[in-house]
Amino acid sequence: MKRLLPLLPRHGSRSRLTCEFRCGNACDHPVPNRSDNPYFADVAASALSRRSLLKGTAVGALVIGGAAGAAVPSAAAAASPTDGPRPSNGRGSGGSRISDLAFTPVAPNTRDALVVPDGYAQAVVASWGDPVLPDAPEFDFEIQTAAAQEKQFGYNCDYVSVLPLGSGSRGGERALLVTNHEYTDEALMFRGWANGASASEEQLRVSLAAHGMSVVEIERVGRTGRWKLVTSGRRPFNKRVTATTAHVITGPAAGHGLLKTAADPTGRRVLGTLNNCAGGTTPWGTVLSGEENFNQYFEASGAVDPAHVPAFTRYGLPTAKAAGKSWARIDERFDLTKNPNEANRFGWIVELDPYDPEAPPRKRTMLGRFKHEGAEVTSTRDGRIVAYLGDDERFDYLYKFVSRDRYRTTRTAAAHRHNMSLLDRGTLYVAKFTGDGADDGEYDGTGEWIPLTSDEESFVDGMSVAEVLVHTRLAADKVGPTKMDRPEDVERNPVTGSVYMACTNNSNRTAEQVDEANPRAANKHGHVVEIDESRGDAAATSFSWRLFLVCGDPGDPTTYFGGYDKSKVSPISCPDNLAFDGAGNLWISTDGNALESNDGLFATPVRGPERGHVRQFLTVPVGAETCGPLVTPDQRTVFVAVQHPGEVDGATPEEPASRWPYGGQPHPSVACVWMD
Ligand code: FEO
Ligand code: CA
Ligand code: CA
Repeated sequence: MKRLLPLLPRHGSRSRLTCEFRCGNACDHPVPNRSDNPYFADVAASALSRRSLLKGTAVGALVIGGAAGAAVPSAAAAASPTDGPRPSNGRGSGGSRISDLAFTPVAPNTRDALVVPDGYAQAVVASWGDPVLPDAPEFDFEIQTAAAQEKQFGYNCDYVSVLPLGSGSRGGERALLVTNHEYTDEALMFRGWANGASASEEQLRVSLAAHGMSVVEIERVGRTGRWKLVTSGRRPFNKRVTATTAHVITGPAAGHGLLKTAADPTGRRVLGTLNNCAGGTTPWGTVLSGEENFNQYFEASGAVDPAHVPAFTRYGLPTAKAAGKSWARIDERFDLTKNPNEANRFGWIVELDPYDPEAPPRKRTMLGRFKHEGAEVTSTRDGRIVAYLGDDERFDYLYKFVSRDRYRTTRTAAAHRHNMSLLDRGTLYVAKFTGDGADDGEYDGTGEWIPLTSDEESFVDGMSVAEVLVHTRLAADKVGPTKMDRPEDVERNPVTGSVYMACTNNSNRTAEQVDEANPRAANKHGHVVEIDESRGDAAATSFSWRLFLVCGDPGDPTTYFGGYDKSKVSPISCPDNLAFDGAGNLWISTDGNALESNDGLFATPVRGPERGHVRQFLTVPVGAETCGPLVTPDQRTVFVAVQHPGEVDGATPEEPASRWPYGGQPHPSVACVWMD
């Protein structure tokens, strides 16, 4: 059965299925940020001749920005699995590690395959439906149940973390693969799907169970860079977190009236996590996960309490009778007419401790509430923890959290308890980017981290600490941050100390709204911003910045590749997730390639003569997005999440657009790539 959907793509190559299921057709709704914050606050930059910068030869004149900040190692690097001696694979020093970048780029293509460079091999590690809990039933596409899905690998894996586990009983190296499951695409999961209103209640429950996170044991295959799922034995850390798993709410907003519901009068306990996108890995061995487009799960059976309307509007939540995914059919908490505060309990960063399978995941309110992309962490000069936080919405903001207390490096239970409190106390900031004008031939300038609140004191007039944290977007609107082109992953380079932010795209930005940090109207292909904190200290309240990449086809004069010769780079579009290898090279995965190729994973040096030499390392199958790139600390394996393969307009289980990876129905999967 063909679905009755228009077949024109929405934006870039993104299908209407993706728009509907992933973000609830966010582009069809008004831009939530209607504040009158300037797009560009700097008088000098208001005189910027943007067209001359972005068209013609002027772009080629952009200078190479300073690449090397102070060498401040990322605290996250301390969380490394698989450090230690590196077995030789017999290759010369020119290409014995993935971080040598000694690969021939993969050409843009539309193959229904995970395409890797010559000399590399790839394999699936874990797929939708694979067993997670030891008693998980075998996956059966035709007979899906919530009870089975709650024990199986969820749908649409996104963030990927790999944490060390030592040796297995046969001596092989083991690790925990931790991933999250952003959303479900019921049109591909179930035959005959029309909508949530006509679905069976069991199908709706399967969808809830396919959200959340998975922790699975994996093992290295021999001495290769290949890893595979462990499918037998006790696997005591294996775990599923779903949209119904009990979570604890922590931090300054926990227990506030805005978080209380009839089912939870304490405001400290919530069922489930939703739309988990990217994340982060802490030095104390926990995984952070960002709740992103949570608004789409809520509906309204009638009017919504007017007191909630301003905030609901800013967060894209319904303010009057409106349909959603019909989850309220099985759980009334998704009906905002009856349970308006339930929506306030989503949109947080979740911290999961994979080594403590009995511990509930925690929603950390100190990191604010918005459409969280991820939360990669680093350390300040004095050993405190910083998390960079993107709010992935057109015209929304970049944030950072700085902890009050220092990270403890000792491996005692007391130190771990202390570290598990780090994300509950500190200060939340929002970023303002100020351009320095066009005369220097570069998109660059300075910036300021504007404090919103600490755990004890609000810095926003008229809002309490808890109100700032629950309604972070409203608080930020009051202090004049810069509206960005959808901030996605933000990550600090463990070698150079510079910070990189992917702004994936924003086709809504008009010529009048461009600024030096978001310099392109109808920004279809996105860009990457490079930030150097003052004194190389992540605790700084000021920074300098410059654009590192302005993405697109290198033949497009509006593109910029860190000053590198554009005739030698791979086309790249819609940067989303970022990662660094051990040499400090930047890895960029894409979502929504608008250049008529499948999405991919790219790598580029960020300093030296090769700065900006972007080359494509792999492409993912038809309809898929590339997520969660991770280069293991031994530089021998790249993990990548292949999200929503086959998500193409008109695709159904009868006529799938992708048959990856098993030749039948498409299965979102985590894969690994290694030197063959
Ligand atoms: Fe779920 Fe911002 O991508
Ligand atoms: Ca993402
Ligand atoms: Ca400039």
